[in-house]
This record gives sequence, C-alpha cells and structure tokens, in this order.
Amino acid sequence: MKISEQKSRKAESGKFIAFEGIDGSGKSTQIQLLSNKLKDLGIYCYTTMEPTDSPIGSLIHQIMTGRIKTDNRVIAGLFVADRLDHLLNDVNGILAKVQEGTTVITDRYYFSSYAYHSIDMSMEWVIQANAQSKEILRPTITVFIDTDPDTAMERITKNRFQQELFEKKSRLIQVREKYLEAFEKLKDEENYIMIDGNKSQDEIAEDIWNEVKKYFM
Ligand code: ADP
Ligand code: TYD
Repeated sequence: MKISEQKSRKAESGKFIAFEGIDGSGKSTQIQLLSNKLKDLGIYCYTTMEPTDSPIGSLIHQIMTGRIKTDNRVIAGLFVADRLDHLLNDVNGILAKVQEGTTVITDRYYFSSYAYHSIDMSMEWVIQANAQSKEILRPTITVFIDTDPDTAMERITKNRFQQELFEKKSRLIQVREKYLEAFEKLKDEENYIMIDGNKSQDEIAEDIWNEVKKYFM
C-alpha cells in the first residue's frame, strides 16, 4: 500500500460497549472486570457512566436525591440532554474517543431511558426522544445483566426500613419488565446479549467475555 493511501485511511473506530441492568444488577463490578481483562490484553479502554458528572448530570443527581422537584417528563428530557453531552462535549465526549480508536465502556446508555422512563410515559416517546443519540453512536454491543430483583435488592440494601425495601423492590420488578419489553421491541435493530446476573462475579465475567471477545480478536 502506498504511504498516501495509508494516510488517507481513517483510524479504525474503537468499540463501544453499553452495560445495562436494574440497580444492583452488577454492572459496575462487571465493567471493572472487563476493562481489567482488556487492559491485560493490551487494549486500553475508557470507562464512563450515565448520569454523567457534567452540569446536566449533577442537576439529575439533585433531582434524584429529592433536592429539586420536577415532573417525570422533565427528568426524561434531562437524561436525553445529558446523553448528548456525554457523546458530544468538547472535553471528554465519547463520540470523539470512539472515532479515534478508543474502546469505550459505559455504565448505562439509552436502554436505561427506555426502561426507567417508560414506567411513567410511553416507551415510543422515550425512544423518539433519544433518536439523536441512537443516530450518533449505537453500541457495538449492549450487555444486559439480567439479575433477579430479589437478588439485586439483597446486594444493594442491608439496613433499610421494610417499607422502603418494598417500594424499591416493586420498582426494580417494573424496571426489569420494561427492559425486557424494550429489548424484545428492538431485537431486529440492536445488537445485545442477555447475561444471567444471578451467578457469581467470576461466572458472569466469563459469560460476558465469551460473548464479547469476538469484537477484539
Ligand atoms: P450496579 O452497578 O449494577 O448497581 P454493582 O456492581 O455496584 O451493581 O453491584 C452491587 C453490589 O453487589 C456491590 O456491593 C457488589 O460488590 C455486589 N455484587 C456484584 N456482583 C455480584 C455477584 N455476582 N454476586 C454477589 N454480589 C455481587
Ligand atoms: P446510579 O446511582 O448511577 O445507579 P446505578 O449504580 O444503579 O447505575 O443512578 C442511576 C439511576 O438513574 C438509576 O436508578 C437509573 C436511573 N436512570 C434513569 O432513570 N434514566 C436514564 O436514562 C439513566 C441513564 C439512568
């Protein structure tokens, strides 16, 4: 190949992997294990999450902790804005990283919006509201860690009141059902895998690696 041809070739894009699951499903644990594995193989990866720590993300955190009150439709819209900023901002936007060849792993992406916000509004509305993100950067693969809500609850809560536990658990059940509905609805256009999240950390990591390794070999 001539040098001019080599120069005109664009750098190969990095992979973009999105992890999804209910709270306590084990996403951050598995992201850590996968990124360590990739680093051991000499593949640098950038790990990130939504909501982000941008000004929009911090507004979301203030709403989620009850410091600011607003309508659920506003929250859904803020997540749309936070996601676009996550993709496009000049300092550490992930679109540029992927285009430069970096592998990016995110803890939550648009399927979180589909699952969490479609409890209060139509899923179609949430999908449409996120159409820009989908167009800008679709995950190479979405890893859905499917953990039983009882198991996830045991993992995340130790000393809370009974009522709180009940409220939280019923929500986890709803969110899991919405995730399953969204994956079924979009099965022809999205590349995803469903992983049994009730196993041990090492078994889950192995199941994920068996599916994900083909993108790196
Ligand atoms: P998420 O990021 O999905 O909210 P985490 O990875 O933070 O979930 O896991 C929630 C809690 O459960 C953490 O305390 C973590 O150490 C623990 N945990 C994660 N995966 C497992 C597993 N497979 N078995 C038992 N405990 C786990
Ligand atoms: P976080 O404390 O990061 O929880 P986790 O460790 O489980 O990811 O809070 C994220 C919360 O925000 C979680 O409950 C899911 C919710 N969420 C939405 O409601 N919509 C979204 O689009 C995203 C990305 C997250």
